[in-house]
Amino acid sequence: MSSPVRKLFVTTALPYANGNFHIGHIMEYIQADIWVRFQRMQGNAVNFVGADDTHGAPIMIAAEKAGKTPQQFVADIAAGRKQYLDGFHISFDNWHSTDGPENHELARQIYRDLRDRADGSLIETRTIEQFFDPEKNMFLPDRFIKGECPKCHAKDQYGDNCEVCGSVYAPTDLINPFSALSGVKPELKSSEHFFFKLSDPRCVEFLEDWTQNPKKEGNPDLQPEVANKIKEWFTVRTNPDGTTSEGLGDWDISRDAPYFGIEIPDAPGKYFYVWLDAPVGYLASLKNLLEKRGESYDAYMADPALEQYHFIGKDIVTFHTLFWPAMLHFSGRKTPDNVFVHGFLTVNNGEKMSKSRGTGLDPLKYLSLGMNAEWLRYYLATKLSNRNEDIDFNRDDFMARVNSDLVGKYVNIASRCATLLKKHFDGVIGTVDPDELQLPISRSEHPAALHDAPVSVISLASYVGSCYGTREYGKAIRLVMSFIDEVNRYIDIKKPWDLAKKPEQREQLHTVLSTALNAFAAASRCLAPVLPQTVAAVSKLFGASNDIGQHLFHQRLNAGDTLADYEHLMQRVDVKQLDALFEPPVVAEPEKEEVAAPGGEELAPTITIDDFTKIDLRIALIVNCEPVEGSTKLLRLTLDVGEGRTRNVFSGIASAYQPADLIGKQTVMVANLAPRKMKFGVSEGMVLAASHGDEKANPGIYVLNPWPGATPGMRVR
Ligand code: 2FM
Ligand code: ZN
Repeated sequence: MSSPVRKLFVTTALPYANGNFHIGHIMEYIQADIWVRFQRMQGNAVNFVGADDTHGAPIMIAAEKAGKTPQQFVADIAAGRKQYLDGFHISFDNWHSTDGPENHELARQIYRDLRDRADGSLIETRTIEQFFDPEKNMFLPDRFIKGECPKCHAKDQYGDNCEVCGSVYAPTDLINPFSALSGVKPELKSSEHFFFKLSDPRCVEFLEDWTQNPKKEGNPDLQPEVANKIKEWFTVRTNPDGTTSEGLGDWDISRDAPYFGIEIPDAPGKYFYVWLDAPVGYLASLKNLLEKRGESYDAYMADPALEQYHFIGKDIVTFHTLFWPAMLHFSGRKTPDNVFVHGFLTVNNGEKMSKSRGTGLDPLKYLSLGMNAEWLRYYLATKLSNRNEDIDFNRDDFMARVNSDLVGKYVNIASRCATLLKKHFDGVIGTVDPDELQLPISRSEHPAALHDAPVSVISLASYVGSCYGTREYGKAIRLVMSFIDEVNRYIDIKKPWDLAKKPEQREQLHTVLSTALNAFAAASRCLAPVLPQTVAAVSKLFGASNDIGQHLFHQRLNAGDTLADYEHLMQRVDVKQLDALFEPPVVAEPEKEEVAAPGGEELAPTITIDDFTKIDLRIALIVNCEPVEGSTKLLRLTLDVGEGRTRNVFSGIASAYQPADLIGKQTVMVANLAPRKMKFGVSEGMVLAASHGDEKANPGIYVLNPWPGATPGMRVR
């Protein structure tokens, strides 16, 4: 009896819509896609969805830089997704956007449900102080505040942690902070924020039980290493300034305008922090899919049999095992049945393929070099397990696994036997020997094996199936490969090419070829979740009635069926492709001899005389000069440019000059620069000074000084 159809809703993490996919995304999609394809082969009903994670300040800022609206910007990124998803055979049923109407509506409703709980609201407001950029007129996210590290004094560090010494701090701890957007010094400004009260005893009790009690019905069976890590968060947490506090902290879920996001109900000018509405995007994409099909989202979600699974990377566990289940549970919704966490992918023992570092193996370049997507799917499958650990893509290992295992062992069975069957029996399949091809599998290889029992073609599928089900793909592949070794051994022992020379052994030849091809078909069924395209070609070879790739557990090939013409199933990896893949990208530069870097930096691109005359340079007399209180870098200059008034100009030259040395001297200034509002006042121009491109190695600032005879107001041209 076949087990009843399971109803599964499966997602992968939603990628930020400010860049193309990198290999880390593709690895996650392949991991989830193999599981989804396996579930579909089991006859289960799966909805597998993704979407772009579109909101937040970084995307808003990137859009502005690109001269686009955020909506246009994310639409352009979305338009580039298909080539990757199709290219790597990722079988999403839907790809949507967190800026879609479904997400706006669902996120706002979930928020209202949390806020309006009959047993007491889980939302509260508090006034907090944050850095504000007075020029851009916006609160600055931590990543957009830079300054000197308070611990090691490295310059140009981000507002949340130092990349040089690794210390964690609050943006307010930075020395000489400045806005990475405008360069001005940010101001502390207070604003009302909305918090989700995760520290509320109701939340703490629910989350501790949900994450730590896998046996309870409705709770996920989290990976042990994941559950252990979460356990620590109930006793201690790290604050933004690096100090620690006890237990879960409340979660700041709001951001002030301007922000690209979803407006909070009844709070004009306040938006949900991107991580509030991002996971709601899972539900929004599902809703969008079901409605396109004319199905009811509410009815689908209300089915108690529905199972919900999220594939994610180890860097976003908090969001998916604390914030997300709490949002769902306390808004009266279904919580995930499990969250499957994977590690990062490193390339050639090198850099981590985390979110921000997408270098090393460019997925689109991989495809454009004509490299087979299934090589990568297969290789990653051999490395993947259900543990949260990093895996490495190694080019030599990749080539060996694909060329010797996949092509040399697996494809080789079909190419040898199908050609002989065609030649000697017009491709008609004969009888399969039921006693051949017993594969010994020991308990150490598979827990379901009660003893070191031989495994038949059919029980192979059940072992492999249970490995796919538990995301032990490496184990599944090892089992299939040992089986394939066995098939090759069988062929080597039976020597069909010798049998073919002896007419009296024609019947045996037919049985050997049919048995080997039957075993090949069984291995193909087992590999179908990993190699969908190759197995589709295998299916074409054996004909529709043999149904390869649809079910793991089909019985024997039908005797009497005729094979289609054999077409080669897979090419080998060419080392030249790997060389090209890892060749550093050639930056398109106009042809030039070695570029000189006078003064520590290359010359700027050529401009026309018209460009130059736009800059109005004038001789200026330094009437006064004084230090600026609160700044170690700036001097305040009072300049006379012959206009019958003086100008106030701030200049970052305090490290090089004493104010008294400059008073009475002449210099050159940019007189038509738009006035700039700074913390200390308005700067009405800019004084010209020379410095080396590498200021650290060659410190020194030299203010320009005209030859005697020049007078204030003269134009410099
Ligand atoms: O870390 C990230 O790349 C996020 N964009 C993942 C979001 S997953 C889900 F919550 F939407
Ligand atoms: Zn530091």
